[in-house]
Amino acid sequence: MHLFDLTGKVAVVTGGTRGIGLMMARGLLQAGASVYISSRKAEAGEQAVAELSRFGTVESIPADVSTEAECLRLAAEVGRREERLHVLVNNAGATWGEPFGTFPASAWDKVLDLNLKAPFFLTRAFLPLLEAAGTEDDPARVVNVGSIDGLHAPSLPTYSYSASKAGVHHLTRVLAKELGPKRVTVNAVAPGPFESKMMAATLAAHGDEIAASSPLGRIGRPDDMAGVVVYLASRAGAYVTGAVIPVDGGRATTL
Ligand SMILES: NC(=O)c1ccc[n+]([C@@H]2O[C@H](COP(=O)([O-])OP(=O)(O)OC[C@H]3O[C@@H](n4cnc5c(N)ncnc54)[C@H](OP(=O)(O)O)[C@@H]3O)[C@@H](O)[C@H]2O)c1
Repeated sequence: MHLFDLTGKVAVVTGGTRGIGLMMARGLLQAGASVYISSRKAEAGEQAVAELSRFGTVESIPADVSTEAECLRLAAEVGRREERLHVLVNNAGATWGEPFGTFPASAWDKVLDLNLKAPFFLTRAFLPLLEAAGTEDDPARVVNVGSIDGLHAPSLPTYSYSASKAGVHHLTRVLAKELGPKRVTVNAVAPGPFESKMMAATLAAHGDEIAASSPLGRIGRPDDMAGVVVYLASRAGAYVTGAVIPVDGGRATTL
């Protein structure tokens, strides 16, 4: 079997309806996995399914994963359809920018609930299905989406966001230790700038400058995200756990 082949594997991608989640869902499908995408809006899910169906078997299950109850419900919904889950991608995320002096408590709760607590509660909720899929040779995989803003101090006033992403990176290491013996790997991807709704305003205002300031001279492309998630989900990534992989054209890695 090809080192990067995902035929027969089942994946869940939260926030898989647009942006980075959609890029990853497409990559997983093209490598042969069947994919469940999830986000709050049912209509966005159906639109993404229409776009992704030409690449393979994909279904949308809407859920707001910022509460544990919804994380449990999403796992139960997938569990009604599948006996095993090979790949869980914790990608859904949100940001908030506001000056230090007025940055509100609500922006801490909203961002930490989704960016940091959801990966924990989802991983726990899906653990029985992940354990059912994982073997010594081919463990099940959890892929958390962090950010280079969790590696360096960001230029924008996104206090809860950058803290949540540093938290995601460390939670990744903690869960890798916890779940390795259960034949589940846990890794994080730390993206640099990629086109998405979250990044639209920043890239519209500073896109050229951001691209020029990276050693590779561009922002990220969909295949850059597809490539890293397929690597981590496939036999090629079977011995990697607790890693945080920057995919950023060198923006943070060469600072
Ligand atoms: N784009 C970048 O340059 C960049 C860089 C570093 C890290 N990241 C990270 O990459 C991930 C994806 O970001 P993106 O840039 O692709 O953002 P995006 O375009 O805003 O996409 C966010 C996705 O998450 C879903 N979502 C939002 N709140 C949710 C909730 N409460 N429950 C379930 N799903 C929810 C959204 O769908 P609904 O609105 O339908 O819920 C959407 O599918 C995030 O974790 C982000 O921090 C992005």
